[in-house]
Amino acid sequence: MSAVVVYESTRGRTKAMAEAICEGIRNAGVECSLVSASDFTDIGDACALAIGSSTRMKRTLPRTRQILDELKGVENMPAAGFGSYGWSGEAPDFISQQLEKKGAKMVRDQPLRVKDFPREDDLEKCRTLGRTLAEECKQL
Ligand SMILES: Cc1cc2nc3c(=O)[nH]c(=O)nc-3n(C[C@H](O)[C@H](O)[C@H](O)COP(=O)(O)O)c2cc1C
Repeated sequence: MSAVVVYESTRGRTKAMAEAICEGIRNAGVECSLVSASDFTDIGDACALAIGSSTRMKRTLPRTRQILDELKGVENMPAAGFGSYGWSGEAPDFISQQLEKKGAKMVRDQPLRVKDFPREDDLEKCRTLGRTLAEECKQL
């Protein structure tokens, strides 16, 4: 049983969020696979999924868009979108919409968005998201 956290990040901000989400998952006793979008192949037998990207020119970063296009087997999977942004922050919403379209079960009403580099309170929100995903895994 493992949750998968995929991230695409240009300056390490969304990556820091991804690391904190995984930390929250692991602290709740569930394995977490932390995968850079460039290394992503498939979700395997993931029990939960978080996908994050920062926003560039109002868009989700390209590899993440491709992953979302090709993503299969996420029906009813507990999931969340996340990402760091600078001013408009469209990527996390786009990710969540795509996951929802594919039938994933979103664990938050809104994706987790953080402006610029995550501060300690932002990282705590990431850990909380991780715990929520882990709890969903444990119920499977
Ligand atoms: C070329 C460029 C374009 C950007 N465009 C946007 C944008 O349209 N909207 C926004 O909210 N942030 C934008 N940003 C800001 C990044 O999303 C922000 O710096 C974010 O924290 C980067 O996170 P990362 O280190 O995970 O990539 C842009 C940054 C760069 C360098």
